[in-house]
Amino acid sequence: MTKRDWTQPNSCATLPPMSKGFLKNTYGLDSVEKTMEHYSQWSASYDAEVSENGYALPGRIANAVAGVTEDKGAPVLDFGCGTGLSGTALKLIGFEVIDGMDVSADMLAQARLKNAYRTLTHADATQPPPFHIGEYGLVTACGVIGSGAAPIKVLDDLTTKLASGNRLAFSFNDNTLADPAYPARVQHYRQNGFALIFEEYGEHLPGIDLKSTVYIIEKT
Ligand SMILES: C[S@@+](CC[C@H](N)C(=O)[O-])C[C@H]1O[C@@H](n2cnc3c(N)ncnc32)[C@H](O)[C@@H]1O
Repeated sequence: MTKRDWTQPNSCATLPPMSKGFLKNTYGLDSVEKTMEHYSQWSASYDAEVSENGYALPGRIANAVAGVTEDKGAPVLDFGCGTGLSGTALKLIGFEVIDGMDVSADMLAQARLKNAYRTLTHADATQPPPFHIGEYGLVTACGVIGSGAAPIKVLDDLTTKLASGNRLAFSFNDNTLADPAYPARVQHYRQNGFALIFEEYGEHLPGIDLKSTVYIIEKT
């Protein structure tokens, strides 16, 4: 079988969706390859399906970071931007310079249509996130870490890219919170050079009765 080049959008994925119902298969993904394939196939119908289920997380994260940010003109990185719903929420609340990054070329192709981003970058899932330490005062990872997306190592990688005073906003959904390793990681950060400046449990995808905790940590 020919190996898929994940840096290029799959032309089929930009066609109108033939079938719906990717959400129900999202939270059992157990490998990077399966996760990439899943989001590639879902890209064209993602916005419609999560919106039908009342996707609340992008608005919650945007509100949370806006509440602790004085300069909304400074560049923000929306890591795991997907189709751009998270960047659009940041733009709507007043952030002016938003860069997006994702491992799925098909999700990025959808994000490009939103006109919310200064740049959109394809990240290699096998490599550390491609930006410099201290490049962004604020990094968001909206629905990106844990069950249904990236492993906890990606969160660790993101924390290593923060300089003193930089912030990282991220979320753990109920499925992720059920694994004690994830909340324990937040405690680990608190004991190792990060302050927890925001934590709130709330709606995530009310249509499937899923909630999540939003965290913001700051490198001390
Ligand atoms: C649930 S979607 C969230 C997308 C967007 N932030 C939103 O709120 O709609 C998860 C995203 O994480 C991306 N992703 C999965 N594994 C990743 C990884 N290892 N590194 C970066 N992004 C990843 C997927 O491609 C997908 O776009």
